[in-house]
Amino acid sequence: MTTAGIHRPLANEPVSWLGGMTPNQFMRRHWQKKPLLVRNAFPSFQSKPGKGSPPISIDQVLALCSDDRAESRMIDQSAKGWRMRHGPFLPKSIPSTSKPNWTVLVQQVNTQLAAADRFLDAFRFIPEARLDDLMISVAGPGGGIGAHVDSYDVFLIQAHGVRRWEIAQKFDPTLLDDVPLKVLESFEAEDDWLLEAGDLLYLPPNVAHRGTAVGPACMTWSVGFRAPNRLALADAIWSNHLDGLTDQDWSDPWLGATDQPGEIPDRLVMAMADQFFQCLPSRQEVALAVAKTLSEPAPASLFETPSRPDTPARFAAKAQKRGLRLACASRFLEWDGEFLMNGEQLSCPANRSLRTALKTLANQRRIAANPRRALPSALQNFLYPLYLAGWIVYDSSAD
Ligand code: SIN
Ligand code: CO
Repeated sequence: MTTAGIHRPLANEPVSWLGGMTPNQFMRRHWQKKPLLVRNAFPSFQSKPGKGSPPISIDQVLALCSDDRAESRMIDQSAKGWRMRHGPFLPKSIPSTSKPNWTVLVQQVNTQLAAADRFLDAFRFIPEARLDDLMISVAGPGGGIGAHVDSYDVFLIQAHGVRRWEIAQKFDPTLLDDVPLKVLESFEAEDDWLLEAGDLLYLPPNVAHRGTAVGPACMTWSVGFRAPNRLALADAIWSNHLDGLTDQDWSDPWLGATDQPGEIPDRLVMAMADQFFQCLPSRQEVALAVAKTLSEPAPASLFETPSRPDTPARFAAKAQKRGLRLACASRFLEWDGEFLMNGEQLSCPANRSLRTALKTLANQRRIAANPRRALPSALQNFLYPLYLAGWIVYDSSAD
């Protein structure tokens, strides 16, 4: 089990899993623009003696399918058509990986397994605010979810076995009727590749694709992205803003007598309209609300609070020895000097070294162990309540 060489690359560093491009070049040439196939992007996934294997095994993924904290779906195809069921699944109801025409997909594996969160570091040259999850599928021969289109970018990494990917940039968007998932009615591939363990295919949004397992034990990892839908975002920001406003009684001491009571006085209607504009948030308030929303954890995320919490002194000693990391499900972002964690704005004193340390935590998702230097007390005090909430944890990978 190795993740050798997988790290958060610098924007100008040539990266093997981007085919030798730098993240800057990748973003300019491919992001939201055109597909990219990289053979042997992750050589350590090859499951060959001396090469290693992916940092998460098929057995670990199948175990998540039986866990009610993970979101899983099973999709199979038979003469009766497509069928989809939602997990958790009893272990005995999960078919053998050599049985044909079935697949399970587990979403948000990165919020469950630290190895998956660490793997995402390879893609953290893209802002965390856009990164969604690592979804993992396991399939038997012929298994897949049919030809479809996603509205987000995706990196598809073949982690085990072989999968055939067919893609088309021009396609008829009509979907099959009476099917529990979105499958294109007709699909003609323009390109077609067999991906083996370690290969990567990047697809921008709106490229139709079909991935079909070729042979047994096919495991594919999908690094997915997100951006809140604009109406949902507007709705959330507006209702939050209204909750924070206090109402005022109407007053119009300037109102005059009228001979035409059926007519609304212009001044009355305009004064009432002005009240609406007084309720509007400023652009800065809206931007902060957007930033907060972007830091919200994925919907099904659970945070485990420590069952026997350490005292502040013990917390500081252990943090120094083991280092700290964000809990897998935590989202910690910084915007315009504000620190936002899991949908909350954290109040942070104007202490330069504390702010620098928090920026590092937001970028690296961890604070390294340092046996020679204790965490500064301002940082300890800031982090201790987050540890009690289960939002940050000791970094066991440092053990
Ligand atoms: C899969 O892993 O089978 C599906 C991934 C995708 O098509 O987005
Ligand atoms: Co897809």
